[in-house]
Amino acid sequence: MARRAEKIVENLKIVDIAQKGLCIAKDPDGRVYLLQGGVPGDVVTARIRRKKKGMPFGDVKEITTESPDRVEAFCQHFDRCGGCKWQDLDYHAQTQYKEKQVHESIRRIAHITDYDARSIIKAERTREFRNKLEYTFSPRRWLFQEEIDSGDTFPDRRALGFHLSGAYDKILDIEECHLMSPKHNELRNAARELGRRLEIAFYEPHSHLGILRNLMIRENTAGEMMVALIVSDMLDGLAERYLQPLIEQFPEVVSWHYIVNDKVNDSMDGLESVHYHGDTHLYETLGDRRFQISPLSFFQTNSYQAVTLYDQVREYAGLQGSEVLYDLYCGTGSIGIYLADKAARVVGVEINEAAIVDAKANAELNNLDHTQFYAGDVLDIVDDKFVSDHGAPDVVVIDPPRAGMHQDFAQFVKELAAPRIVYVSCNPSTLARDLALLGPSYDLQSCTPVDMFPHTSHTEAVALLTLKS
Ligand SMILES: C[S@@+](CC[C@H](N)C(=O)[O-])C[C@H]1O[C@@H](n2cnc3c(N)ncnc32)[C@H](O)[C@@H]1O
Repeated sequence: MARRAEKIVENLKIVDIAQKGLCIAKDPDGRVYLLQGGVPGDVVTARIRRKKKGMPFGDVKEITTESPDRVEAFCQHFDRCGGCKWQDLDYHAQTQYKEKQVHESIRRIAHITDYDARSIIKAERTREFRNKLEYTFSPRRWLFQEEIDSGDTFPDRRALGFHLSGAYDKILDIEECHLMSPKHNELRNAARELGRRLEIAFYEPHSHLGILRNLMIRENTAGEMMVALIVSDMLDGLAERYLQPLIEQFPEVVSWHYIVNDKVNDSMDGLESVHYHGDTHLYETLGDRRFQISPLSFFQTNSYQAVTLYDQVREYAGLQGSEVLYDLYCGTGSIGIYLADKAARVVGVEINEAAIVDAKANAELNNLDHTQFYAGDVLDIVDDKFVSDHGAPDVVVIDPPRAGMHQDFAQFVKELAAPRIVYVSCNPSTLARDLALLGPSYDLQSCTPVDMFPHTSHTEAVALLTLKS
């Protein structure tokens, strides 16, 4: 089949950000393009390949005028690792575009303009802010064209790093990642070196041969770490040979686990972790609450900004102590637990059963006896009987995944008629769509974007809705 011809377009000015790290550009006649590469303010020549979302889509071929907001990226892997796409855009500018994206989505999609459109809350830490990273072993790190063209030979390509964007089988070897502490870099590099020295086969996803698959590192704000080694098979003596030297070298790691994954894909769904050494859990403190984290449990990945986000939820919830609070899509219950001191009752619902086990354990850890957590789909569980069993909510916190709420559930939320809804969103488009769905019954009072993930295009926002009188 003939390949569709590329078209080169010059003099495109990047004017805005779009989702998934893409940018919006305009030509001198005002035609709009969707581009990969570049930052707002750049003037570029682009290679247009096809249409996406109704716009000509392609990538930046050459930057002809650099944006005044450009800064030097600080990571040696920046050009190749798709992780922190906006490291070369000044942090203040990043946050301004995120803030604009949230409020513009509300205006454009929900057609709401009369609300308190607050400024974004920036992150104080723009490096070493994540509490979890997952690395992948590979027997053959990905070689870039210039390495192939150099004529050099690469006899040992065993790697431990990140997937190239969208590629399950292309691994970029990582020497230093600034998303977690320098200690975690030492640990990952030591894990790769030890695997090489002991000649333990690095897993290859096409042939499914090899033992070492992934290394998950978690780190709390006190600098304590948890490691889970994912292997295709836990061979006799492997844990002693491989994990024991790392345990001795890294006393900062307080909790060691392994997970056997003999499936063809890297997904951890349905897998079980085996505790090997040290504490069974890692503990994290958010405000005055403590949370226990298991290797496979979900936890907000930026603990520092989780506190900022939850404080914003607290302000909007306006609890006085006598309210029934529903925490819907509650994950491990952290929002409900964080707010529980100001509520008469907290009722959480979450589809992931393991997360509910953690939510109950976390409530116990914080000596809370007025919280209840249920596993199941909100659409099935939260019905009239649920409401009569638990009491009608005064405040409903809704924190759905990127796809937002199911339309039928939005309808039920309206019927619940709680005086206040605090909606936490990680996707401005579905936030705006859901605000429109709730619109007939609720007024949007205020919305605050919160930057949870510096240098990425991910945007979080918290919105307060009140029941129409
Ligand atoms: C953004 S996370 C919420 C995180 C949590 N509130 C916190 O702050 O840690 C969204 C959660 O919704 C859950 N979820 C997705 N669909 C669901 C559904 N239909 N019913 C209940 N929970 C669901 C996911 O498993 C996930 O834990």
